[in-house]
Amino acid sequence: MDIAYLLKPKSQRRKEQLKPTQPLPFGQLRTDHMFLIDYEDGEWQNARIVPYEPFTISPGAIALHYGQALFEGAKAFMHPDNEIYTFRIDKNAKRLNKSAEILCMPSIDEKLQIQAIHALIDVDRLWFPIQNGASLYIRPFMFATEDSLGVHPSKSYRYAIILSPSGPYYPEGFTKPIRLLITKKFHRAVSGGTGESKAAGNYAASLRAGEFAKQFGASQVLYLDAQNKYIEEAGAMNHYHIEKDGTVVIPEFTDTVLRSITSESIIELQNSLGLKVIQKRVALDEFIGKIKSKEIIEAGGFGTAAVVSPVGEYVFEDNSILTVGDGSIGAYSRKIYEYYTGLQTGKIAAPNGWLKKV
Ligand code: PLP
Ligand code: COI
Repeated sequence: MDIAYLLKPKSQRRKEQLKPTQPLPFGQLRTDHMFLIDYEDGEWQNARIVPYEPFTISPGAIALHYGQALFEGAKAFMHPDNEIYTFRIDKNAKRLNKSAEILCMPSIDEKLQIQAIHALIDVDRLWFPIQNGASLYIRPFMFATEDSLGVHPSKSYRYAIILSPSGPYYPEGFTKPIRLLITKKFHRAVSGGTGESKAAGNYAASLRAGEFAKQFGASQVLYLDAQNKYIEEAGAMNHYHIEKDGTVVIPEFTDTVLRSITSESIIELQNSLGLKVIQKRVALDEFIGKIKSKEIIEAGGFGTAAVVSPVGEYVFEDNSILTVGDGSIGAYSRKIYEYYTGLQTGKIAAPNGWLKKV
């Protein structure tokens, strides 16, 4: 694919490597440029890298009314050789197309997506943040642009990529376990819906539950299935727990759970980690019983932004608290975090093809 480079004048671009003096927040900073490509007349056209700035959209665009929009989330890391590498970016490109299929949007060639992501990072490489635990967060997204008030799939779309030099999703990073709210009041997804996709609307629908969770001092809701029987996932990460023999359990992927690339990676790394990692339906009652009897000793979340986020306690609507182990970060979670981040940052050898040099 030919990409047009319509860049900012050099004098207006970042001139030296970003070295933040304060801990970087997640998702706030932007880089100088973004990538855009438009879908018109049945094909993707006009690939370009342009300055990061607002763009115009018709007030009647389908994305604004009916939410036909999706996104992806990936990261790039700097290795000891001072080169920038994207992590498992092919998996994100593939999952974007899966989401597109679920939302009746056009697919976009995976190679083209990867080329575009790499081209943009290359242009803005001085924005890679040199700070422990920070990375370059990659946010590809697609939305419906047709100006039409009929409820039907749009005929035109825009696919865009923006970059955000970011620190950990939870401000405490890996230092402080989080609290999750277990409630039967809100649900993230139902079978036959869009739960398996990264539809923008899934996240809009999670906001009310997230605000509710905050009232209980919790970071997010741990969603249950529509029958309130099984644990599914949290709003921005998959869930895991670890049994006392070290077995890591991730709830089975169904059409109501996002196939986390982090979870899939931990499953693939189980031999190197020396831990058994399995997936199964996790019944809530059994889960609670096993935490109380200390058969479950650790729990947490897996995700690109969340990385490995240990859960110290669960809170319920009656304000009762269920502490996991002694409430601190467990040795198994620490091992997974260290191995996984070591591999992303090039300190530990990664399986072939996981890291691509920009
Ligand atoms: N579940 C949800 C709902 C998410 O938004 C995310 C984040 O992308 C995840 C799980 C974790 O997926 P991944 O590890 O691919 O980032
Ligand atoms: C990610 O982990 O990349 C996500 O997309 C989660 C997001 C809601 C912050």
